[in-house]
Amino acid sequence: MTSKSARAKPSAAQPSERAEVDTVAFDVVEGIAWVRFNRPEKRNCMSPKLNRQMMRVLDELEFRDDVQVLVLTGEGAAWSAGMDLKEYFRETEAGGLGAVRQAQREAYGWWRRLRWYQKPTIAMVNGWCFGGGYGPLFACDLAFAADDAQFGLSEINWGILPGGGATKVARELMPFRRAMYHALMGENIDGRTAVEWGLVNEAHPGERLRARVEEVAKVLSQKNPVALKAAKDAMRRVGEMTYDNAEDYLVRAQEAANSFDDHGRKEGIKQFIDDKTYKPGLGAYDKKRT
Ligand code: ACO
Repeated sequence: MTSKSARAKPSAAQPSERAEVDTVAFDVVEGIAWVRFNRPEKRNCMSPKLNRQMMRVLDELEFRDDVQVLVLTGEGAAWSAGMDLKEYFRETEAGGLGAVRQAQREAYGWWRRLRWYQKPTIAMVNGWCFGGGYGPLFACDLAFAADDAQFGLSEINWGILPGGGATKVARELMPFRRAMYHALMGENIDGRTAVEWGLVNEAHPGERLRARVEEVAKVLSQKNPVALKAAKDAMRRVGEMTYDNAEDYLVRAQEAANSFDDHGRKEGIKQFIDDKTYKPGLGAYDKKRT
């Protein structure tokens, strides 16, 4: 077991003055990087400091050999209460257009980075998830929520449209009528309803959530990592393609994957056809034997 935490020393500062490095925490345990929004006293809303620190943490973890899967969750009662209305909106707006654009680049930058991350990613939504939080929620490949987690496009409640990608996320993941209702009404839905509406894969009682996420992460970590990266990117890319374009892209994507790892899929065929040690219809080949 390897373990490393980015949150080293408790700070003597007031929570509102949390150092930038302390706004995100993580541990790596048995191949899973558990990354946490770490401003529980502010319900993990995303400030410029947090956005910058999250990008550093993603950078650090992306190509580490001891990380197979990244889980994004929140410290305390929230996953993320969206953008920090004070530090992300009011204070950057006071700094003028340049400051606003800089803050947007930092936030959108790490969400984009996460959408195309090298490793498979899982959102483990333990509590509140609002507005801007839909950016990282969508960026994660899979999402699992606590039954009583609360999801909301609350922008309309304080007088803006769901921006920063949130409207796009709702349209991508939900049927039109539900997305429209969600954006206009500003009402929250719980984890179970979020499954029904397509925002997350599954919901579980809070005390069982981590165990289920760990189980899924362990399955992912046994698959061929080159195939996982190719499959997750393809799933996002084909959404905007015609059938013919997708067919062509997928041929090229597999050929490109072969240039990184031609041996893996041949071993997968061999262990089934020749060795008869597994059945692909029932599970993954043993990549340790390759
Ligand atoms: N921006 C700035 N500060 C926030 C945010 C936020 N998004 N969310 C919570 N906080 C702060 C509160 O101001 C409070 O600070 P204080 O202790 O200095 O007074 C602290 O976090 C705790 O928040 P409470 O409201 O006291 O916590 P409570 O558990 O009662 O309520 C809830 C939680 C429902 C999440 C509430 O904090 C809330 O409505 N937050 C805003 C949610 C939201 O609409 N986010 C913006 C989405 S739109 C977008 O992201 C673009």
